[in-house]
Amino acid sequence: MNDPEHLHQNIFCSIIDGVLLVSSSLTIQESNLTVEDMFHRSRDSFIHRNLEELFPRQQHVLDKVRQVLTTGACYHDVEAQGMRHTPTSRFPVNLTLSPFLEADDSIQGVVILIKNMSLIRELEERQRPADHLNNLGAVAMGMAHEIRNPLGGIRGSAQLLRQEIKDSSHQEYLDVVVSEVDRIDRMVKRMMDLTRPLNLRMASTNIHKALEDILMLEKDTLTRKKGRFEQIYDPSLPPIEADEDQLKQVFLNLIKNAIEASRKGGKIQIVTRVSSGYAIKAASSPIPQQNIVVEIIDSGSGMDEPTQKKLFTPFYTTKTKGSGLGLAICLKIVEDHNGKIKITSEKGLGTTVQVFLPIRQK
Ligand SMILES: Nc1ncnc2c1ncn2[C@@H]1O[C@H](COP(=O)(O)OP(=O)(O)OP(=O)(O)O)[C@@H](O)[C@H]1O
Ligand SMILES: [Mg+2]
Repeated sequence: MNDPEHLHQNIFCSIIDGVLLVSSSLTIQESNLTVEDMFHRSRDSFIHRNLEELFPRQQHVLDKVRQVLTTGACYHDVEAQGMRHTPTSRFPVNLTLSPFLEADDSIQGVVILIKNMSLIRELEERQRPADHLNNLGAVAMGMAHEIRNPLGGIRGSAQLLRQEIKDSSHQEYLDVVVSEVDRIDRMVKRMMDLTRPLNLRMASTNIHKALEDILMLEKDTLTRKKGRFEQIYDPSLPPIEADEDQLKQVFLNLIKNAIEASRKGGKIQIVTRVSSGYAIKAASSPIPQQNIVVEIIDSGSGMDEPTQKKLFTPFYTTKTKGSGLGLAICLKIVEDHNGKIKITSEKGLGTTVQVFLPIRQK
């Protein structure tokens, strides 16, 4: 069996809600990983600091903590706003406060459980009649959220069990449990990405760097098929205003599709240039914008007409292990950048995907 200390640490790290331990002087003493994830901050930036660091100007939270310290009472459903710095924003949370007791029952501090309410509030917003998202989408999103919570528990238990079991063939079964749980989790997360409004973090982005990062990730998979990438980059391409992480998702999905469609020894070309013939008119700006275009050209299986018509429909896939969400996510991200995607394909010959992106957003 695990020693109790190790087990407690494991439980602490596996909890899907944020956990803080606050001292009697309202200093943050301990936190789990979820807190860092939720507040987009490293532990070092708030540990040993006042609780106000995470919940600024919220007297009612500090008052409740003091009440727990003096009376030992617990409080549920304390509504508050968490503070992120990058970018500066507040997000809704729901707090549960309980006293942290020593062996002699004296109150040493307060344990705060933090539940991120952003998604729930978002769903509530979406349920308003003015919203166009249909109910099915909202239900799917709620379900996706609920599916992810128990998954964390299943994964953690399988890992703990794996540490206990000595027989390597039995360990392999548990490895399957963990990797399949990860697969469901990835799929559910992608589904949530598709339904939730994107919060783009726009910055000056070097498109070649973003592409190279993705090519590096995917190179081995293509090499195993004896294929290769050919980069034909325009060195004069200006940086564009975009969310680099989101664009990387787009290119990752497109390059994965190209590799999956490639035959043995196939070449995938990645071409960048300033677009001359395709001017995008965004709703936010009536003046056509200057664009760049990234082309991903494969010489793989290609697609027939009926397949091409369904490409961006969520869950449309011809692959046994595909989720059919890749292109739908690409479209959402590119359209949120006021860009366009154009796909041309010929059955048996290959596919060209063109991603047009405005250089500036306004
Ligand atoms: N480059 C391509 N060549 C041939 N067919 C393609 C290409 N890209 C997409 N497709 C077709 O479009 C379908 C939908 O693609 P999409 O990326 O949305 O989902 P997927 O690849 O099936 O699954 P996922 O990306 O979620 O793992 C694919 O199943 C495939 O039939
Ligand atoms: Mg795909």
